[in-house]
Amino acid sequence: MKDFKNKVVVITGAGSGIGRALAVAWASQGAKLALNDYNAAALQQTIAQLPPPTDVFESVFDVSHRERMEQFAEAVIHRFGRVDVVVNNAGIGLGDYPFAEIDLNHFEQVMDINFYGVLYGSRAFVPHLLKQPEAALVNISSVFGLTGIALSSAYCASKFAVHGLNQSLQQEYVNSPLTVYSVHPGGINTNIAKNSIDYKETHDAFHKQFLKLSPDYAAQVILQGIQKGRQKILIGSEAHQLDFVTRLFPRWGGRLINKIIQHQVEAVRKKLS
Ligand SMILES: NC(=O)c1ccc[n+]([C@@H]2O[C@H](COP(=O)([O-])OP(=O)(O)OC[C@H]3O[C@@H](n4cnc5c(N)ncnc54)[C@H](O)[C@@H]3O)[C@@H](O)[C@H]2O)c1
Repeated sequence: MKDFKNKVVVITGAGSGIGRALAVAWASQGAKLALNDYNAAALQQTIAQLPPPTDVFESVFDVSHRERMEQFAEAVIHRFGRVDVVVNNAGIGLGDYPFAEIDLNHFEQVMDINFYGVLYGSRAFVPHLLKQPEAALVNISSVFGLTGIALSSAYCASKFAVHGLNQSLQQEYVNSPLTVYSVHPGGINTNIAKNSIDYKETHDAFHKQFLKLSPDYAAQVILQGIQKGRQKILIGSEAHQLDFVTRLFPRWGGRLINKIIQHQVEAVRKKLS
């Protein structure tokens, strides 16, 4: 897909971070937008940042509610008559927990939003996307959907599940007008820590040391990736390095990435104490 002018673009989790930056980037290229977030005030702030005269439809709901997602898809078709691009972006973080101590309610909540939200969004919109001569389904995974890291089992499981869904759909729709994109951002400076299930101030200060890339940069990489038809979109040099090392050397590459992250975490912990 080369040109986004007048394309109908759906973005979930558009009230902050990558979702907000995507909304602004697509609006600047003349797309019509259907935006979701479960934070109504945050979604209004995004809409206020769109360049006029963007044609925008908004819907406030939790993406982990299947029926609400199905109603959203129907409402988007009713409003615009079609849909060209869907970005299942809404997602949530959880702090570091040893697996044996993790609260399973938190684990389920992470899966409900990060995986089932993406599944419901994909399932509700794919039949409509397939009616277009050219369409894009863009599901946001993570670098932690490429390799697992210690103390983040829920987040990694949810992002690997998204990656698996993406890979399956990429094969299924290979000879169709629909292209499926798997997006793997590295550290992007968003509210992901602040919006996490178990937000703590130290947690936020901690993440600030790691989340360096701007959401606008992430949005540009995603839009360019779609224009070039790159079905695996890696964001940031660290994402490229991690992907390279873990694909070539899955066992020791994964171990190396964990050691580097543990080392960085210790260094930041010392700095903050
Ligand atoms: N920031 C990073 O470094 C990074 C790295 C890899 C992947 N990601 C992924 O990118 C996506 C966007 O995250 P972000 O970094 O912009 O975070 P963010 O917290 O800034 O934005 C996420 C938005 O999603 C919304 N949201 C959360 N749960 C929702 C739900 N159930 N229903 C509707 N809206 C919901 C939030 O209200 C928020 O506005 C997420 O899927 C995240 O896992 C982020």
